[in-house]
Amino acid sequence: MKAPVNSKVIRTNEGHLLELMDEDVQSVNAFKTRLKFSREKRDRSDDIDEVTASKHQKPNQTQSSGDVLTVSEDDFRQYHQAKSRVRDFYRDQHEKQTMAYNLQARVNFKTKTRARMTIWEALCKLSMLIDDSDPDTELSQIDHALQTAEAIRSDGKPRWMQLVGLIHDLGKILYFFDSEGQWDVVGDTFPMGCYFADEIIFREFFDGNPDTKHPIYSTKLGIYEKNCGLSSVMISWGHDEYMYYIAKSQSTLNEKALAMIRYHSFYPWHREGAYRYLMSDEDYEMLREVQEFNKYDLYSKSLKKYDIEELKPYYLELIDEFFPTKHVEF
Ligand SMILES: [Fe+2]
Ligand SMILES: [Fe+2]
Repeated sequence: MKAPVNSKVIRTNEGHLLELMDEDVQSVNAFKTRLKFSREKRDRSDDIDEVTASKHQKPNQTQSSGDVLTVSEDDFRQYHQAKSRVRDFYRDQHEKQTMAYNLQARVNFKTKTRARMTIWEALCKLSMLIDDSDPDTELSQIDHALQTAEAIRSDGKPRWMQLVGLIHDLGKILYFFDSEGQWDVVGDTFPMGCYFADEIIFREFFDGNPDTKHPIYSTKLGIYEKNCGLSSVMISWGHDEYMYYIAKSQSTLNEKALAMIRYHSFYPWHREGAYRYLMSDEDYEMLREVQEFNKYDLYSKSLKKYDIEELKPYYLELIDEFFPTKHVEF
């Protein structure tokens, strides 16, 4: 039984584990995205004789120009270290994310308020829990939130997108309320109620998920109609979906912003190209927006730690602009 976030009991160790897992998942995602871009770039280049290039290229050296596209040997090593932990995590996630669980999670979400606080307080709370567990933690959630937001801001992107950068991972506080583990808070997401696409990472672990034996959920369309639009699709429960519902009901953020929050972990869709048959025409615009946001989420992590107190007034004003009710119901 988990303690509520406002109780004196702080579940620090587990909070730290969650953070480590998320780091691992993100490093795997960053690596795979780099590889994809590198391959695409190589395929586009007419100058490269592919046969010759592949003969001389070691598998762990995918070269390309530009920071985002370079895959170093170090990346590759980190990817493999992370991969074994991430593997265990995804076994858990793929076996337990069932339609039955997802329906219950939504009932739980709608029938109670877990905490009432400002967005900034929630950011601090999330970071504090994690920082307390390990003084050596390099970057906390608030650092990642500020780095993402600041990267978006310095590129001259609109204010609503800067706010998305700040709050996109805030739903992880779910972990301190009524999640059942890490598997229903972080990790890549995917649609429920239809076939689990082959593009999903560690697809084989769905073999242990009862939905794969369900007569409807196991079919390609499942409970959906072709091109019904992602707004009609149930995405696996986690910090994205949770924060999306909060932002949708309590902020004035636009459709694009809500899509960035809702789909940022939906890698099988925004990176691997799966589930096109569920998309409506307008989802294609959302896809471009989510892909644009993903660059900032994955690659804004730097050693630069921003001065939180210095940036606070700017972001408090930004939050107030889009969350008219100061105290948000989480
Ligand atoms: Fe996230
Ligand atoms: Fe993030």
